[in-house]
Amino acid sequence: LREHEEFTKVKNIATIELGRYEIETWYFSPFPPEYNDCVKLYFCEFCLNFMKHKEQLQRHMKKCDLKHPPGDEIYRSGTLSMFEIDGKKNKVYGQNLCYLAKLFLDHKTLYYDVDLFLFYVLCECDDRGCHMVGYFSKEKHSEESYNLACILTLPPYQRKGYGKFLIAFSYELSKKEGKVGTPERPLSDLGLLSYRGYWTRVLLDILKKHKGNISIKELSDMTAIKAEDILSTLQSLELIQYRKGQHVICADPKVLDRHLKAAGRGGLDVDVSKLIWTPYK
Ligand code: ACO
Ligand code: ZN
Repeated sequence: LREHEEFTKVKNIATIELGRYEIETWYFSPFPPEYNDCVKLYFCEFCLNFMKHKEQLQRHMKKCDLKHPPGDEIYRSGTLSMFEIDGKKNKVYGQNLCYLAKLFLDHKTLYYDVDLFLFYVLCECDDRGCHMVGYFSKEKHSEESYNLACILTLPPYQRKGYGKFLIAFSYELSKKEGKVGTPERPLSDLGLLSYRGYWTRVLLDILKKHKGNISIKELSDMTAIKAEDILSTLQSLELIQYRKGQHVICADPKVLDRHLKAAGRGGLDVDVSKLIWTPYK
């Protein structure tokens, strides 16, 4: 946490309350001016409206009738659910989510134009409702083939595999669209670590299965990972040689096994059979 705080500009909100958690913030977020004098904000964990006082939140919770994000549940497996929220149909929710997320995202500009985005919110569900764990946003139409704009796992849920689940989910959506995708740049240090981890795990598994006899293009078609990201990942693993002006995969079985052993946990898997979704038109 300390390293993050070094880069913080003028951090206004120091902590937030969200569901059963009190969370220390990492970065500045441009809340409307009337919140400038607040050090703590109270969020409704379902509609993400934020308030200055605990009593306001308590009153709000009595009348807020949401028990999950205001969108379509497009995935459910066990206690995990994913909701898709259209920023145009749920503008206030989209804006609230951006204000909240910016508290943990550094070099990201906040888009007020939430109309142009879809939000995919991951929840852990129990008998009290569906509690937000993290999310990613996605442009409805991306010129640059971005399949993810911003990604966040809320701090109390980090390092449990949810980040890789969200990344895997973004690629499953790309597969359904029949497109390759890549995350919007720049990536944060934690973002890059998570992506590198995901790409490495996915590519090593396929290389192992195909005994290395596969091209970058074929890998890209199978995974929806953009060729450049495949190349940079395999280069960092020293599995690429440059021969006669071409990049070729050289996957020595021993080297593969060594990398596979070192690669992180697989994380939480996306069960594609439980994804009910058609691409945005
Ligand atoms: N220290 C070292 N490695 C880490 C850390 C950490 N604190 N956090 C994640 N990693 C690496 C690990 O390699 C980990 O895999 P492993 O546990 O198998 O070793 C891998 O990242 C992914 O871990 P997950 O548990 O799947 O990811 P998590 O749920 O923690 O979420 C995320 C990752 C979303 C990047 C989270 O750290 C976060 O929300 N950070 C703040 C916001 C942010 O930086 N988002 C990315 C910005 S870039 C963009 O939005 C396009
Ligand atoms: Zn509410």
